[in-house]
Amino acid sequence: MSEVVVLVSGRGSNLRALAAAMDEGRCRGRIAAVIADRPCDAIEWARARDLATDIVRPKAYAARAEWDRALADAIDAYAPRLVVLAGFMRIVGPSVLARFGGRVVNVHPALLPAFPGMDATKQAIEAGATRSGCTVHLVDAGVDTGPALAQAACPIEPGDTSETLHARIQILEHALLPVVVDSLLAR
Ligand code: GRF
Repeated sequence: MSEVVVLVSGRGSNLRALAAAMDEGRCRGRIAAVIADRPCDAIEWARARDLATDIVRPKAYAARAEWDRALADAIDAYAPRLVVLAGFMRIVGPSVLARFGGRVVNVHPALLPAFPGMDATKQAIEAGATRSGCTVHLVDAGVDTGPALAQAACPIEPGDTSETLHARIQILEHALLPVVVDSLLAR
């Protein structure tokens, strides 16, 4: 069985979509653990599902590099084949990349390289873009700069707010992330 560790910070809708796809046999693998940098809905959901969970809080460490090492250790405890950042609101550092480089993927709510970083849907609307979407990409040391593995696009409708656009993009994310995870685990 291919173990997947999912890193989260928020609502966890991508985590739930991935778990559902695995349960329904649409995605191979198993969620070995859900790890967060803070208490959040995604961790609550994982606990309710009896999944292993861990919270590695940056504040508990004197330096960023120590937190990064602790995060890498927490992930390593589950010996995953793949690490999925699903709404993880921090940049993973050199310790995580050194141990899992090439096996860390992120889902981002824009058609990268357009609109990396925070508030991608707000950026797209403010730029006057007429389409956006989501990207699943390999994580490197930059902010949303790693090679794209797959993208899905949708229109930006007149009158869209950041929230309405994000809701449309999340439907795409929930479909695309399990497909990419499945294909990576098939290798
Ligand atoms: C997603 O839109 C993802 O693209 C971004 O953060 C959001 C997380 O949403 N990186 P959720 O917690 O999976 O609902």
